[in-house]
Amino acid sequence: MELQLTNKRVFISGSTSGIGFAIAQGFLQEGAKVIINGRSEDTVQEAIEKLKALEPNASVSGIAADFRDAMAIHEIHKNIHQVDILINNVGIFSSKLFEETTDTEWQEMFQVNVMSAVQLSRYFLPKMLDQNWGRILFISSECAQLVPEDLIAYSTTKAALLSLSRGLAQTTKGTQVTINALLPGSTLTEGAIAFLKDQAIQEDRSEEAVAEDFFKNTRTSSLLQRFAQPKEIADMALFLASPLSAATNGAAIKVDGGSVPGIL
Ligand SMILES: NC(=O)c1ccc[n+]([C@@H]2O[C@H](COP(=O)([O-])OP(=O)(O)OC[C@H]3O[C@@H](n4cnc5c(N)ncnc54)[C@H](OP(=O)(O)O)[C@@H]3O)[C@@H](O)[C@H]2O)c1
Repeated sequence: MELQLTNKRVFISGSTSGIGFAIAQGFLQEGAKVIINGRSEDTVQEAIEKLKALEPNASVSGIAADFRDAMAIHEIHKNIHQVDILINNVGIFSSKLFEETTDTEWQEMFQVNVMSAVQLSRYFLPKMLDQNWGRILFISSECAQLVPEDLIAYSTTKAALLSLSRGLAQTTKGTQVTINALLPGSTLTEGAIAFLKDQAIQEDRSEEAVAEDFFKNTRTSSLLQRFAQPKEIADMALFLASPLSAATNGAAIKVDGGSVPGIL
């Protein structure tokens, strides 16, 4: 399938590793021009080098901006005039009980997960509407619907993204701009791999056994019964960002291995 992404200008928040990195690599394979992002110059440069090694003809650059800081958006204003595709990917979480989650943790999760997406969309959406083409994709989570008890704050931010995405999509009526949300399930990023390794050492078991138990005891509703690969999330993101997905707007698309029950 030819995704028609050649020369499309793309910005992906939080993309020096994990799902964002896999999305960046996918866009580069399709001939898009990608700007990646992370918190520091070092990690951004390192990721650029890695992407160039993986995709030798890649047109990739990067911007260090830490979205815990509301002023970080000025780095984007200073360095990028316009993009065709915005992927609001950056997201942080902390696994804690509700009564142990502090205001500061709630505020930080809202700042990074929701407000970065608000600020980036506010900057890029009018430009997309002016050129009458654009794509915005919000990376939400299965947690928006599952709301695990140790992830209430994180899940709340991910549910907020669904309203933001749907509301903004309604402002695109009659244009060639579309805005959608993607809800990944548990995905084998570097963070998940480190978690499995730690648990395996602590419990003196194999990583495979720990992963198997996670789906047996924690994410029991998963139909996939394994972690998704970042590329499996990225492939859906690429399609939704492509001209081919023009008829999908204001949607919330699950890539959760079937973990959220129900037919819709
Ligand atoms: N992994 C999963 O199982 C899963 C499941 C459902 C949804 N999601 C969602 O998918 C998205 C990506 O998840 P992921 O697991 O790939 O994330 P991740 O591995 O934790 O993300 C790491 C990336 O985020 C960047 N980052 C972290 N804090 C940042 C900040 N304050 N400002 C700018 N960049 C920052 C890191 O950059 P530096 O290290 O370079 O600073 C790195 O590029 C998130 O929104 C997450 O909630 C993930």
